[in-house]
Amino acid sequence: GKSGYPHFMLKEIHEQPESLRQTIHGRIETLAGKVSLEEFDAGAFEDVERVQFVSMGTSHHASMYAAAQLTARGMTANAYMAGEYADCPAPIDEHTLVVAVTQSGETADTMNAVRRARDAGARTLAVTNVVGSSVTRECDESLFIRAGPEIGVAATKTFSSQVVALTLLGERIAEDSTGVQRAAVRSLLEGLADLPGDVQQVLDESNAEGIADALYGCDSYFFLGRGPAHSVALEGALKFKEISYEHAEGFAASELKHGPLALVTENTPVFGVITGEDDLKVISNLKEVQARGAPVIVVAPASFESEVEFADYHLPIPESHPEVAGILANVQLQLVSYHAADQLGRPIDKPRNLAKSVTVE
Ligand code: F6R
Repeated sequence: GKSGYPHFMLKEIHEQPESLRQTIHGRIETLAGKVSLEEFDAGAFEDVERVQFVSMGTSHHASMYAAAQLTARGMTANAYMAGEYADCPAPIDEHTLVVAVTQSGETADTMNAVRRARDAGARTLAVTNVVGSSVTRECDESLFIRAGPEIGVAATKTFSSQVVALTLLGERIAEDSTGVQRAAVRSLLEGLADLPGDVQQVLDESNAEGIADALYGCDSYFFLGRGPAHSVALEGALKFKEISYEHAEGFAASELKHGPLALVTENTPVFGVITGEDDLKVISNLKEVQARGAPVIVVAPASFESEVEFADYHLPIPESHPEVAGILANVQLQLVSYHAADQLGRPIDKPRNLAKSVTVE
């Protein structure tokens, strides 16, 4: 049942502290500052030189997040939309690891991409929520995100758990492949260990409902981010459009001037995602849209209060590691989408035309 919540989506958003605890359970040695995945011993990925993620929708956004992290660790990593990859696969050699990211483990586009990769000789690894799903049978290896069943069509808690599981997997891969344990891993793992509590704080204190109320009935809703926050912007827009039926788009902040800015008016609220110092550049893009009359909503750590004072609204997140902050920002955006759709009276758990698992191309 919905345990008293009006929708499964809201219940699942609120389950995230617990689902994240399950995802990280036993996988972080905080004292030693180490990742420990029972499925993959240290050295399991020492032959891997490049990583290709294949996935769709929300899982693709989690994959983009992970690819940005691995790239920052000096690895060759790309996130491909599985449907495109199946038609036009990237080159593969014996050092290529293909990671299929799929909540359901049944998505046809993702399965097709896996088959192409396997036939070309890649090592294949499934990251999924569903034990015994098709993808686990098709891939050489599996890592389970352990988020528990997700009923709402819109993926929420599984995105957070995917990002965390992929962060841990990425740390294992980067360490094995490069042969060095990064000194910075300890603070990242501490951030992940604190994440369930930090998500709880967002849930307890969120001002998302009031912001959704204030921005009711606009023409379009835009979401901007850079680096890993780009994937959070894309995810924010996907969630918003699929459950509210309002037009929403996510952009890389750098993309704005190259076309989308033409769409910006006083009737197009723009959300900006800031996860840490490195993202402060997005502020100049936000000031640009504000000068054209667009309402600006910034999701940013509470400590950035003075930097984001120019914004019309601030959705604060607790202090965290920048690579973890994207997950917290996404929780705020999940709540904005939920409340926007709720005010519009949409069938939140079963949006029109969509299915929880898309088993045809
Ligand atoms: C969006 C959503 C979809 C799925 C996509 C992939 O909220 O749920 O975009 O993320 O259909 O599904 P999985 O992860 O099951 O492969």
